[in-house]
Amino acid sequence: MTRERIIGPDPITPEEDLVQFSLRPDRLLDYVGQSDLKAKLEVLLQAARGRGEPCEHILLYGPPGLGKTTLAHIIANEMEARIVTTSGPSLQRAGDLMGILTNLNDGDILFIDEIHRLSSVIEEFIYPAMEDFKVDFVVDKGAFAKVINMPLKRFTLVGATTRAGMLSAPLRDRFGLYYHLDFYPVADLAEIVRRSAGLLEIGVELEAATMIAERSRGTPRIANRLLRRVRDYASVKGDGSVTPTITSTALEAEGVDSAGLDELDRKLLRIIIEFYKGGPVGVEALGATLNEEVDTLVDMVEPYLLKTGFLQRTRRGRVASDKAARHLDLALPQSDQQQSLL
Ligand SMILES: Nc1ncnc2c1ncn2[C@@H]1O[C@H](COP(=O)(O)OP(=O)(O)O)[C@@H](O)[C@H]1O
Ligand SMILES: [Mg+2]
Repeated sequence: MTRERIIGPDPITPEEDLVQFSLRPDRLLDYVGQSDLKAKLEVLLQAARGRGEPCEHILLYGPPGLGKTTLAHIIANEMEARIVTTSGPSLQRAGDLMGILTNLNDGDILFIDEIHRLSSVIEEFIYPAMEDFKVDFVVDKGAFAKVINMPLKRFTLVGATTRAGMLSAPLRDRFGLYYHLDFYPVADLAEIVRRSAGLLEIGVELEAATMIAERSRGTPRIANRLLRRVRDYASVKGDGSVTPTITSTALEAEGVDSAGLDELDRKLLRIIIEFYKGGPVGVEALGATLNEEVDTLVDMVEPYLLKTGFLQRTRRGRVASDKAARHLDLALPQSDQQQSLL
């Protein structure tokens, strides 16, 4: 089941994609938050520039909407390099990848989004390309088959993934640097809201920016989206200015609560508490009960619930926390399994 989630971390429409694109910072300096990552990247890029060499292959890992694609473009800008972008699912045949690799120039950035979804055939090609800047490919068949060894230019591969666990170990090991992007604290998100508001020429009061930030589940893309929804609401129901009152009414109307949870989050927690007596319950069973893809739950719903402690992951499945029960105003039943543990 696919549905539009106002707080879903992926872009909803192509039009939104464009706006989100226009809000992307171009330089490391304008990239809000993630200070550890920025500091490390700064050193890496400066060293590479100093040596006049392309930088090492970089893997960016974290939930959707946290700024991985943005960072890939920033890396290219900072290196004054060209960026070529593709994604794991769109690289179907070895020939597709060959075409891209052989057209890269020295220093170019090759950005592969959703790199955990590369097929194993493609992965085999990527290893020698990353390691030795060459590709081997076989032409002809049977007795006439021969291996052609093609040298490549020294490019930098930037990979992005929401699921580091699904990356094969040999692929992971070929990245010189591995960065984990974590959810943003409210203060950083408020700054992102104010920055975006400036770019979109929306007047936002500080308190309203903070309210939007608190409900953006740690995700810049959601913060930008909520800001635009609130702006629309303000221009229809108010005089266009984004005040705290307008903001809270608008967000309420969108079904986003004070903790940034939407109907799907609350439904998931409610089902664990009421139907599965608080858990533990396997994610497949949850998917079936909610009529949602397991991938959707794992990629888009769970990370924030886990991060904020509404949900816990145990070896036997998902468990709803006291905090979740309090938030939903429900009593957390003692499940048989939990009781037997006591
Ligand atoms: N650190 C940041 N500072 C400012 N804006 C950000 C930051 N990270 C992400 N954004 C904004 O959030 C949106 C989504 O970022 P994106 O790079 O597409 O995320 P991802 O590739 O991880 O899904 C972009 O429009 C960008 O403007
Ligand atoms: Mg992206």
